[in-house]
Order: sequence, then C-alpha cells, then structure tokens
Amino acid sequence: MKKIAERLELFRIDARNLLRQKTRDAGNLVWLRTRGFRRVNLRGIGKFPVPDASNAEKKETPVSMWLRKPIQKPQTWDIKFRIGNAYLFETPGNKFYFLKKVGTRTNPTATGYTGTESVKNLFDMLRAGVKTESPVGLLMTAEGNDYLISVPKKGAHLFEALLHANTAQKIKIETSLATQLAKLHNAGMVHGHLHGDNIIVYSGMARIIDSTEAFTSKKAPTEKLAEMQNLDFKRVNAICRIWGDAGTFERVYNELRKKIG
Ligand SMILES: Nc1ncnc2c1ncn2[C@@H]1O[C@H](COP(=O)(O)OP(=O)(O)OP(=O)(O)O)[C@@H](O)[C@H]1O
Ligand SMILES: [Mg+2]
Repeated sequence: MKKIAERLELFRIDARNLLRQKTRDAGNLVWLRTRGFRRVNLRGIGKFPVPDASNAEKKETPVSMWLRKPIQKPQTWDIKFRIGNAYLFETPGNKFYFLKKVGTRTNPTATGYTGTESVKNLFDMLRAGVKTESPVGLLMTAEGNDYLISVPKKGAHLFEALLHANTAQKIKIETSLATQLAKLHNAGMVHGHLHGDNIIVYSGMARIIDSTEAFTSKKAPTEKLAEMQNLDFKRVNAICRIWGDAGTFERVYNELRKKIG
C-alpha cells in the first residue's frame, strides 16, 4: 500500500512541476509578444546546423522563430564561420547576424534559463543603460534549445584592444568598461561570466556581451558584493592591470559603483 501511495505522491509532484513549467513557458511567450516579438512558424524545414562548443557538426530541427524585425528563414542563411558557441551568418538580403545558444526549454537546469529568460536579462541590462548586444530574435528547436539572433557589434576583444592602445586610449577603454560594469552592478545584476572575449571594444568604447548567465543577485549585501567581485570585477581587473593603464579600471569602477544594498 505504502508503495502505491509513494508512487501517487511522485506522480503528483511530476504533474505539479509540469504545470509550473507550462505556466512559465506561457508567461514567457506573452512577454515576447509584449516586447514586439512576432512568431514565425518553421515546422517542416528539417534539420539545420546549430552552433555548438564541441567541434562536432550539430544539427537540430527549428520549429519557430520569434522576431523583432523580419529576417529570412534559416534555409536561406549562409553560415560563414563559428566563434566559440556562436555562428555568424548572412541572409539573402546581405544582413549579418550572430546565432548562439542562450537557453534550453526541456532541461532549464542545464543553463538555468530558457532563451526567453536570457533575452529578458538582455533587456534588463539595456534598461540599466549598459551597452550590450541588440537582440533581434530567438530560434527555437524541437530538441528544446533556444538560439539568440543578434546584431554583430563592431570591435575587438578587450585583450587585443588594450594590446594595441597607447596610454590615453587605454584610459579611455578602461573608463568606458568600468562605467558599463558599475551600471550593471548598480542595477543589482551580475554578468556571471565576464572575461576578455565577452567585451567588445570599438573606438575606445566597451560593450559587455554574452549575458546568457547574467542574473539579478538575490543575496545579502556583503555576499552580493563578493559575487560581483569574484564573477565579474576581478577577472577584468586582472586583464586591465597587466595590459592596460595600471589602476584606471579599478579606480573608476570604485568611484561609480554605489553602495550595494
Ligand atoms: N553580437 C555580437 N557582436 C560581436 N561579436 C559577437 C557577438 N556575439 C558573439 N560574438 C563573438 O563570438 C564570440 C563567442 O560568442 P559568445 O561569447 O556569445 O559565446 P561563447 O562561445 O559561449 O562564449 P564563452 O566562451 O564566453 O562561453 C564572442 O567572443 C565574440 O567574439
Ligand atoms: Mg563568450
């Protein structure tokens, strides 16, 4: 008898979790609509190459795209090359975009987010005034993965930009980066995954990209500060201290970051 009761309880928990997931998914789709994303059905296009960190050629089955502006369907995309987890592709209208995995709907614990939740983080960053990526759409596959379509931003990775800069340029780059990071942290957000290749510098202005692991910290003030220091600040500060103008990044960041409460 006990076994049956236990099984029933497990079944109830499963059903509750499934319902929770479905409610969350539905809420996310409403959010996309209210932010100007429109759904394009892609059923029937078959397997399509998707970017993956491993070198193996990976294909998935697109089922829909949520777009803020019109983009031709994936069948027509010309994939140029892969950088890390991102593909750069060109549409027949000669528009270039990046495609990269930002979430999964079937097993949200793997990345923590669905694609829509990653895009919500991007919008939160933009609202906080942080220069980051421009999201254009989401490609959703039958395999349960979500891929962000975003506009390629001009510029070089932080390390390379600092390497070729003179002192005045280094100060400009570091001031810009410190301003962006302080804005992010002042809004209570943590990037969570900050390193030199996730910072694009153009004409002395820094842009923080790849926010798939960004989150709004729910921790107590001191722990929140430690999180921001360890996951974001320390990593970039090390690069700036070695290849930049010693001290500028740290000084500007400390000046601009308000007391985190
Ligand atoms: N919107 C963009 N504009 C310019 N470059 C981009 C953009 N998106 C991605 N890239 C380039 O592609 C690279 C890989 O993309 P991204 O950092 O998003 O994925 P990743 O490979 O998962 O990175 P990580 O190693 O940080 O996990 C970036 O370092 C950058 O050079
Ligand atoms: Mg990256």
